[in-house]
Amino acid sequence: MFKVKLKTNSDTLEFTANEHNSLMECAQDFEINIPSSCRNGTCRTCMTRSKSGVVRYDIGWPGLSREEKQEGWILPCVAIACSDLELENTKAYQI
Ligand code: FES
Repeated sequence: MFKVKLKTNSDTLEFTANEHNSLMECAQDFEINIPSSCRNGTCRTCMTRSKSGVVRYDIGWPGLSREEKQEGWILPCVAIACSDLELENTKAYQI
């Protein structure tokens, strides 16, 4: 289990992520909504900045460029936590 801090427009939310489910699914368990559409790593609606920590993807190549990945962008609908994380998504909110 990993601790995730998610900075939004107005707050810093916290939830616990596991090694099996996507960050988006884990956030939903804590009634945190990260805006999404496709939920399969292609539409980029859920793009979130990772300030620290490591994620992995079970799909071959999520819809991010190499540069975006290097800048810390992740797709939480398909990203799975591998460590504690500090994320930033101004459109996320507590339900
Ligand atoms: S919801 Fe489409 S890429 Fe995440």
